[in-house]
Formats: sequence, C-alpha cells, structure tokens
Amino acid sequence: MEKGKQIYEGKAKILYETDSPDYLIQYFKDDATAFNAKKRGTIQDKGIFNNKISTKIFEYLEAEGIPTHYEKTLNDREMLVKRVEIVPIEVIIRNVAAGSLCRLLKLEEGLKLSEPILDFCYKKDELDDPLVSEYHVRALGWATDEEIQEIKKYTFKVNELMTKFFLAVNLDLIDFKLEFGRFKGKIILADEMSPDTCRLWEVGTGKKMDKDRFRRDMGNVEEAYQEVLSRVSK
Ligand code: TMP
Ligand code: ASP
Repeated sequence: MEKGKQIYEGKAKILYETDSPDYLIQYFKDDATAFNAKKRGTIQDKGIFNNKISTKIFEYLEAEGIPTHYEKTLNDREMLVKRVEIVPIEVIIRNVAAGSLCRLLKLEEGLKLSEPILDFCYKKDELDDPLVSEYHVRALGWATDEEIQEIKKYTFKVNELMTKFFLAVNLDLIDFKLEFGRFKGKIILADEMSPDTCRLWEVGTGKKMDKDRFRRDMGNVEEAYQEVLSRVSK
C-alpha cells in the first residue's frame, strides 16, 4: 500500500492517506504529553514500543471477536488501519482508583472499585477533555443511542479480555482509555492500546509500568515501556 499525504497530526500519532480510500497508515511518534499537553516531552522509542504493544493487543482482541481498525503492522512505527470517522469521545474504564478519579473525589490511589466505572469524556484539549454523560453524547449528536450501547458493550468486553491478558504477564490493569470510530456504518475500536492509554501496575510490587512515570517524573520511563512490550510478547 502506497503512503500518501499526511491528513492529521495528533500528540502521539500521525495519520497518512494510502492509495485506498478505506485505509490509513498510523505512525507512532516518540512525543509525550500529559495534562492535555500542558506538559510535553519525548520518550525515546515510545513510538516503536506502542506500535508493537498495540499490535499484540489488537491481534488478541480481533481473535476474541472485538472489531478493530487494525489491519496489519507495516514496520517499527507504522500500522495499516481502517479509515474511520472518530466518535469524539474518550471512553475510560476504571477497575482501581487512580489519576483524575482520585483528584475529583479525593480517593486514595489504589482503592479497588467494587465494579468497573465507565466514564465518557469529550475529546477537546482546549476544554481539558471534560467528563460528560450519555445524555450529552446523545443530545449533542456525537453518537446515537444504538452506537453508545455498542460502545459500552465492547468496552466492558475489552476490559474483561485485557484484564485477563495482562494478569497472565503479572500486570494489573488499573484503568484505560478507548476511542471508537465508524467504518461502513459499524462501530469499531480505533486509536491505540499502550502504556500511554492504560495504567498498568506490576502484581505484587505495585510498580507503575505506564505513562504515569512520565506524568510524575518518576524516571525509567523507557524501561517500563520496554518491559511491557517484552511481557506482552511472551
Ligand atoms: P485519568 O485518570 O487521567 O482520567 O486517565 C484514565 C486513563 O485514561 C489512564 O489510563 C490514562 C488514559 N488517558 C488517555 O489515554 N488519554 C487522556 O487524554 C487521558 C486524560 C487519559
Ligand atoms: N494524553 C493526554 C495529554 O496530552 C493526557 C494524558 O495522557 O495524561 O495531555
């Protein structure tokens, strides 16, 4: 597939057209941002780690019946993906309290939730990706009720599958963010799944193996991404 012109550049990825209207090339950058780009930096080879980790996860989810935009991995930093119309919502699932949930409700980090919490956030950096409800999503026309039900069903299923997947390599899946898109009228999982978009704590030690190491200047950021890749490759 021929690489065409760049159509989008986000904080962590670039999208290029291909010679097919149905496919794009998704390029993973080393740029890292946090707190809606108020903090910026670089994580060396992050693009390579996240491309490979996302590949493993998309292949696993597809095999388990979750439709995704993933087609194939082209090289170290690029994957071929279906061209979707992105639903402008970040879907977050939390199994354990961390990050913005702790800030919002003054909860202690690490509190085990008695059931997963699903949050919708409107994807808008200028507004700091505000928390919204299903009512906002419907009323503002970001997705239909049928699409919302489909998104929730896939998100809970992905949570079950990914919790199992990471536990098998001694990582606790604390929370993660998903994005969905429309492809030929159907909702499919898009974007990426990586230590940028998941919180992963080592079982037993609780060691953080994700972007919180960058957000909080904890050091050994690259090592953590490398370690996650090596574990999911097993
Ligand atoms: P939060 O605790 O900051 O709301 O993040 C919850 C999860 O979502 C965490 O695993 C990181 C991920 N996330 C993103 O992937 N992108 C974002 O823009 C935000 C805010 C969180
Ligand atoms: N990805 C978001 C940002 O740019 C937030 C985060 O991951 O913390 O700033």
